[in-house]
Amino acid sequence: MPASASDPSKRRLVVTGAHGFVAGSVLSQAGADWQVHAVSRGEPMAGRDNLQWHSCDPLVPGELARLFHEVRPHAVIHTAAMADIDVCQAKQELARAVNIEFTRTLAKLCAESGARLVFCSTDTIFDGEHAPYGEDAAPGPVNFYAETKVAAEKLVSGLGAQGAIARLSLVVGLPVFGAGNSFLAKTIASLKQGRAVAFPGHEVRTPVDVITVGRALLELAGGTQRGIFHLAGLTRLSRFEMGQTIARRFGFPQDLVKDQGPATTPGRAPRPRDVSLDNRQTRAQLKTPMRTLDEGLSLILESTNTLYARA
Ligand SMILES: NC(=O)c1ccc[n+]([C@@H]2O[C@H](COP(=O)([O-])OP(=O)(O)OC[C@H]3O[C@@H](n4cnc5c(N)ncnc54)[C@H](OP(=O)(O)O)[C@@H]3O)[C@@H](O)[C@H]2O)c1
Repeated sequence: MPASASDPSKRRLVVTGAHGFVAGSVLSQAGADWQVHAVSRGEPMAGRDNLQWHSCDPLVPGELARLFHEVRPHAVIHTAAMADIDVCQAKQELARAVNIEFTRTLAKLCAESGARLVFCSTDTIFDGEHAPYGEDAAPGPVNFYAETKVAAEKLVSGLGAQGAIARLSLVVGLPVFGAGNSFLAKTIASLKQGRAVAFPGHEVRTPVDVITVGRALLELAGGTQRGIFHLAGLTRLSRFEMGQTIARRFGFPQDLVKDQGPATTPGRAPRPRDVSLDNRQTRAQLKTPMRTLDEGLSLILESTNTLYARA
């Protein structure tokens, strides 16, 4: 264990799903005032003075309780989830275990220990027919992934002032560690090889960059805000238009980006049409600024040489 891992002057933060896309942004941006404990089923990936890895399977009974006993966290950022909508639809028992029961265990441990819990939810809990959705809008899940997230939100809201629910819009960015769930990385890889990419022109979102998401999650972990927060960008556009913007900003021919059309792929779970988020209440409560897609992509392009180079 590094010497600083037990530094009593630092607040202790547990980050679940540490190999994932969003977790990488949190881990790479957590300041020296945090002692970070990265929890993952995988092997440790990168080292920092204030970062300690815990390799374990959090679904094994007793593992999370043992970790809480050892770390005694002040806060938890819970990013771990089965985040693939189609996999959740096909493997509902596992999706329930990962997305609901894992959250239930964490919520119970936080309630017992007084730790703060910041939970990553999703824009896709909404039905897609009544956008834009404010923080107080009623969920209307159209697939099983969304159902699990709504159930987990209820568990976290049961914590009262100790809990914060961060609903993430579609997250755009490049992974810091590992690969994770980054569609931008896959898009750039295809465009680099001159291969066409197709995105649905009828699915509308308010994408948010992964750097902003990481900063906002850390702000929530260190703060006292309670309730629901919409971590969403300020640009509302279709996923096809998003693909075109990405191609333009990364210097690829825009005609490689195709509109996938409304045809549904066999086995694809239902998707809500327009889950644009209204984040006015969130912006009033957070210091971290929410950005337009162009601003977010600029941040990603700049950070490729600075923040990400540190990882
Ligand atoms: N990316 C987006 O556009 C987006 C949008 C809205 C909401 N979200 C939410 O934001 C959070 C982070 O998303 P992400 O994009 O970072 O996802 P991701 O890259 O797929 O990472 C999720 C992590 O969850 C853990 N996990 C997955 N399956 C598991 C299992 N069977 N048992 C235990 N842990 C498991 C894994 O961590 P380890 O391998 O380290 O164990 C995985 O790396 C999720 O809660 C997701 O629902 C994401």
